[in-house]
Order: sequence, then structure tokens, then C-alpha cells
Amino acid sequence: MRFGYFDDRNREYVITQPDTPLPWINYLGNQDFFGIISNTAGGYCFYKDARLRRLTRYRYNNVPMDSGGRYLYLRDDVSGAYWSPTWQPTQTQLDEYQCCHGLGYTKISSEFLGIRTSLSYFIPLDDNLEVWLLEVKNSRPTKVILSVFSCVEFCLWDAQDDATNFQRNLSTGEVEVENGIIYHKTEYRERRNHFAYFACSEPLSGFETQRESFLGPYRGWDVPLSVENGHLNNSIAHGWSPIGSHHIKLTLAPGGSSQVVFILGYHENSADHKFNPPESQTINKESLEPILAAYLDPAHAITSLSDLQQYWEARLRTFQIASPDVHTNRMVNTWNAYQVMTTYNISRSASYYESGIGRGIGFRDSNQDLLGFVHLIPIKARQRILDLSATQLENGGAYHQYQPMTKRGNDAVGSNFNDDPLWLVLGTAAYIKETGDWSILDERIVFNNLPGSEVSLLEHLHRSLQYTLIRLGPHSLPLIGHADWNDCLNLNTFSEMPGESFQTATHRDGTVAESVFIAGLFVLAVKEMVDLLQNCGSVDKISLYQDAADKMIRTIYTHGWDGSWFLRAYDNYGVKIGSQDCEEGKIFIEPQGICVLAGLGIENGMAARALKSVNMLLATQHGLVLQQPAFSHYYLNLGEISSYPPGYKENAGVFCHTNPWIMIAETMIGNGDQAFDYYTRINPSAREAISEIHRCEPYVYAQMIAGKDAPSFGEAKNSWLTGTAAWNYVAITQFILGIRPSHAGLTIQPVIPKDWMEFQAVRIFRGVEYHIRVIRHGPGNIVQLQVNGQSIPGITVPIPPADIHLVQVEAILT
Ligand code: GLC
Ligand code: GLC
Repeated sequence: MRFGYFDDRNREYVITQPDTPLPWINYLGNQDFFGIISNTAGGYCFYKDARLRRLTRYRYNNVPMDSGGRYLYLRDDVSGAYWSPTWQPTQTQLDEYQCCHGLGYTKISSEFLGIRTSLSYFIPLDDNLEVWLLEVKNSRPTKVILSVFSCVEFCLWDAQDDATNFQRNLSTGEVEVENGIIYHKTEYRERRNHFAYFACSEPLSGFETQRESFLGPYRGWDVPLSVENGHLNNSIAHGWSPIGSHHIKLTLAPGGSSQVVFILGYHENSADHKFNPPESQTINKESLEPILAAYLDPAHAITSLSDLQQYWEARLRTFQIASPDVHTNRMVNTWNAYQVMTTYNISRSASYYESGIGRGIGFRDSNQDLLGFVHLIPIKARQRILDLSATQLENGGAYHQYQPMTKRGNDAVGSNFNDDPLWLVLGTAAYIKETGDWSILDERIVFNNLPGSEVSLLEHLHRSLQYTLIRLGPHSLPLIGHADWNDCLNLNTFSEMPGESFQTATHRDGTVAESVFIAGLFVLAVKEMVDLLQNCGSVDKISLYQDAADKMIRTIYTHGWDGSWFLRAYDNYGVKIGSQDCEEGKIFIEPQGICVLAGLGIENGMAARALKSVNMLLATQHGLVLQQPAFSHYYLNLGEISSYPPGYKENAGVFCHTNPWIMIAETMIGNGDQAFDYYTRINPSAREAISEIHRCEPYVYAQMIAGKDAPSFGEAKNSWLTGTAAWNYVAITQFILGIRPSHAGLTIQPVIPKDWMEFQAVRIFRGVEYHIRVIRHGPGNIVQLQVNGQSIPGITVPIPPADIHLVQVEAILT
């Protein structure tokens, strides 16, 4: 069952009924100001950091779900009937409803009682504000007298404090209203130099800034007293809960229409220009005035929306394809790239599942996000690499997360996730392959934000590898620390205390538990590092690393192979995890993926064997589950993984992030049919038709789909912010379609299904546009390249001379 459809031409998903199984959301914003918005206008916005600078309130886990957002009420002032044109919060049965989620904007249109509205929400490219562009049209044969009420509820900035510290917060709220503009200025009197504003292009008939005055006592957003009465009380909030609500009146002739702009924004003043007059407590609005004047003009608002659309077109032009499969085309051309950009921007901080409070920018997460993001805006990727490495510790370890506002490592989570540092090597290598910008390796960057500790980025990468090498366990495999990629395989935690963090509590000394996953990742990181060193002429450590990697490979073959698949780990007692010998958790997906990615077992048949085991034991119609058999009870020696009921999350859920590793691995053994089959099983567009089962948005990946052990097998959860986005993008574009940046040029090595006779792609790479046509002449994966009509040896199109900007590539597969 579907709840909408893809409009591929306009790059929109069009939702046709408001009560989707879960709120289906979109992201607004690209630079510093962001919002999340559902298909019924729920959600919130923030400046840079969803915890520390949240502008509007959103109550997670609320009932009815997804109440709280960017709301309007329309009221027929003759009959007194009122409704929400975005369905929430009044939930009036609308005569028509449609929500188009587009790239960086959401447009909700509806009709009720002969009044048509269309409401576009977006954050313009370069300003810290949301625009709500409203068009109201009277399709009745008679004149209509309408009231429009807007409403947002302000958050008192720190979302964590806002939701907990009521003894203080119910007394601190402050606002100002000037020329019809509502300013939220809680704590501006003291240490904050920023405020929020909510403005409207039309003259007001009234306003409200105190929540209770708007709603009336004991009422909810669905039945606000002021709206019912058709009159706002011009309340000024002192303490309690500041809101912003405007009242405007529109009289529309038959067929008549009107445009109204609302803007909700964030503004900072310098410390010595906070007040005007200086000795007063009144906000100095001087530097804000030009911004207000610009955006309150509907013509400017409309131009900035089309600027935003052009911006997206330009980003996506970097890689467009035409393949025989519609689901592949729309994910690659639009939605997967868009999701990758979102995960890059937001990391794992703010979604409808991530509260924006708990988690900042993840070290391993962001490095992986980069793999899919780097071609979209390389310059931003560069900055992220530098920011991440500035949170690395001198011993090579890394803070697991950093806060986006401060860019400092998060002490509450700390370090010792022993896979973390290695991802920096992969992220940096991907950046250099994309851009050819070797200068990044010479950038001098601090450790742990400490001035004076600067070394080159290349030295940071050396420290990353060293970190693994000096933390080897009894089998010479890398020690796991708090966890490796799987945050929930906590082999040193041994937690018996409810509520203790599985990730940070450690009740064992950590000198025994080892990870085969990190071993595989190390081999992969060394490959990338050796490539870097060879290319930048810094050869002295190459043989050291190669020897270490060879040794690691032998160790994996000896102590990390279980007969039919790669082992997962050794626990604190030196006992195998992910082995035939185990009763539960006999086989895990992660080492099968990462070891084959690192090239292990390809020549000796272990890779094919491991992937066959994956197919037999982990593959389901809804994707590949993380391990089998699921853990049926809590294991003290394994930690959080066994805290989830079977089939959910890391305990045998389809943890989608891992699936593309297997897709890539299948391409590495030449199996395009299998790779593409796995790709399709979790492709959200390919699952659109079963939206009543999948339940999450059909245009983006979710972190997890419930596995076969769960009662809700096939149900997705935790959509949007997941490494699944980047890795699927890499799997389909670089390994299945096979168009892959390398240091020497653009590699073309498709491993596509046998029944694909042809596909085409346009890839902009290092300033050159490649028009690529792949044609199948035989059933295999052998590639013969023709560049501008000339056959060339090998699979890599060399970088053309500087004056060439267009290259035609034909790849014949036999
Ligand atoms: C979450 C985390 C990621 C981790 C994964 C598996 O997605 O953000 O860092 O690798 O879970 O536990
Ligand atoms: C939980 C989740 C896991 C995530 C981790 C991050 O353990 O199950 O997916 O990576 O939190 O801290």
C-alpha cells in the first residue's frame, strides 16, 4: 500500500494522505540553520546545534504523535469554522491534502470549505531563518472573510534544560513585540547575545506570546481558545511558555487570492551592541532590519526558493544516471544523494528518532558519511576532516563524538572505541581521490583542540594506524575497547546496573577482548594509507605498514576464520563470538563485509564461502540481518546487543548500514546479480509498495528494518540519520555501477546484473564532465574502455589535460 508517489521530474515525494503510518519528514537548511519538518508541518528548527540553540519546542514521545510544529489556523469569520491547512493540529478532515517533500523545502497544499491553501516551508541558502510562504485562494462563488493565525512555541534554547529545569524556566521567559514582529529573548538580558524572531508580511489584527493566553486553560493545540474566539489578546509573556502567534485578516473576492510570508529566524548581536538604546533592555534590531525587509517581500521569498532549487540541481549534476531500474535511478539521482547530504550535515543528532540532545558529530559516523558526500561539496568535506582530526588524541585515539557548536570532543562519551581512528584514513583517502587535493595532508592540526600540539594531517593518519598496532590482544588481533563499529557489542562492559551506559561503563580491563572487524578495517586502512604514501612520495613507512597488514591477514586467516565464515570477535575470556561453536550469534555480518572489502579471501575462496554463508543464514526478503541466531536473553559478556529483543537493532535486525558492505563484497567476487538483489531488498523506493509494512518514509533509508525474529518483521525504524545512506550510495555508484574515483583517474568497473544490457551516467570529476555509456556484449564483468573513441588499457580513465572539460567514455562488458 502506498501513501503517495514519486514525482521524479520535480525531485519530490508527494504524500497524498496526512495520516501516514509514521510522520514522514524532511530536512530544511544547508549551512548553519536547520529544521526538521513532517508531512503535517510538525518539527522544530535550530541554529548549528540541536541541543544548545533550539528555537522551537518539540515534544518527543508526545500524544497524539507529532504534535508541535509550524502551525497555521484558518478561520471562516462568518461561520466561525476553523481548521489547520496542514491537517495537524486540528486534524480536520480536509477536502484535499497533498504534501510535497522536495530538496530543502516542503510544500503542503490543501482545500477545505472552498478555501485553497498552499504553504511552502524552506530555509534559504544563506540566512538563518525559515520562510513560510502562504497562498490562500478563495474558490467559492462568494466573498470570504478569513482570519489566519500562525503559531510556534519557543524553546528556551538549551533543549535538554528546556525539558527538565522547570523550577527556573517557568520564570525566565521574555519576549518583545515591535511593529508586529515577535522577538523571543529569554536569557538575552544576561549571557546570550542571540534571539529569535517571528515576523509576518501583513499588518496584524493582534498577536499572542503567552501560551496559556493563546490556548486557554487545559486546552491543546487542536482547540485553541483564541482561534475559536477569532481574537488574540496581545499577551506579553513573562515567564511560563513564550509562543509566537500572529493574527491577520484576509477578505477575498470569489477567485481572489493572497500571499503572506512568515519568517522565523535566529539572530546574533555583538556583545557591545546588544541593546538599543545601549542602557536599555531592548534588543538592538539594526543589523536584522535589512534581512527582515528582504524576506517579508513575497517576491524575494519566491526568488530565494528558486535559488535553493538551483543549488540542489547543481549539486546533483555531479552524478546522474539512466539505468534500466527506476528505483536505482531515483535513489542515485536524487534521494540517496540528498540523504547523504543530510547525514553529513546533521550526523546522528536531530531526527524524529534522535532527540537532538544526546549525540553530536560522530567520529566514525562522519568519516563514513564523507564517503558518500565528498563529491557533492568537497570543500565542506575537507573542513569536516580537519575538524574531526582536531578531536583526535595524541595517542591516535579519538573522541567518539564532538559538539557541533564548540567542535570539542564530548567528554561524556569519551574515546576508546577502537575502530574510530581508522575511519579517518578512509575518509581522507576518499577526499583525496575525489579532489586530487594532496595539500590536505600537510595541514597542521591540533590534537584534542590543544593549541601548540599541531602536527600534519598525515601524521594524524600515522597515529591512527599506530593506535591499532599497539593495541593487539592475545591472538594478535586488535583489542576492541568499548566497542568497534557495532556500538552494542560491548565486550568489556559487564554491566549489571540498570541504566548504566553500555558504551562507557567498563568493568573489565580490556586486555583480552579482540575484534576481527577492526582487524579487517585495519587491512583496508593500510591499503589506503600505502596508496597515499606512494602517491605523496613519503615512502619510509610503507614496508612497515605492509608487513603489519600481511601479518594481520595471516592472523585473520588463522584466528579469525571459523570454517565457513569470518569470526566476529573473542570475548573477555578469549572465547569465540560469531562461531559455529556458539549457541546464539553464530554468524555476524560485519566481518564478512569488511574482510572481503579489504580483499581478504578473494584468492583463496574464503570470501566466496563467507558470502555463501551470509546468503544462507542472514538473507531475508527484507534485507540481511546482522547476526543469527538472535540472542534470546541478556549476555553479561556481550552487552547491549543482547539487551534488544530478538530481531531489533543490532540483535538480528536488518541493520541496513551493513548490507552495502555485502553488496560491495559480492561485486568483488564478480557477482552483480546478487549484489543488485541485496541492493533492491532494502532500497526504500523498491519498498514503497509495502509502505504499510515498512512504515517509514519510502524516499530515505532507515537505520533498521525489523529482522525475521521480530513480530514486526519488515518494519523500518530510525529513518534518515544512518551510515546506510553513504554506504548504499557507495555500493551502487562505485561498485555496482562501478564508477569510482581513484588517485589516477576515474575508474570504470561495473558489476551489474546480467540482464542489464546498458546504462548511462554523467559524472563530474575534478572539474571534468564524463559522459559514460556502459554496454553489455557478454555476460561477464570484463571491461574494455574507449575514451573519446580510442581504446585504452585497464579500467581507469586517466585525468585529461587541463583544457579538456568533457570526456566520452564507452565501456564494453564481456
Ligand atoms: C549507530 C551508530 C554507529 C554504529 C551503529 C552500529 O548507527 O551511529 O556509529 O556504528 O549504530 O552500532
Ligand atoms: C544504541 C543503539 C546503537 C547506537 C548507539 C549509539 O546503542 O542501539 O545503534 O549506535 O546507541 O550510542
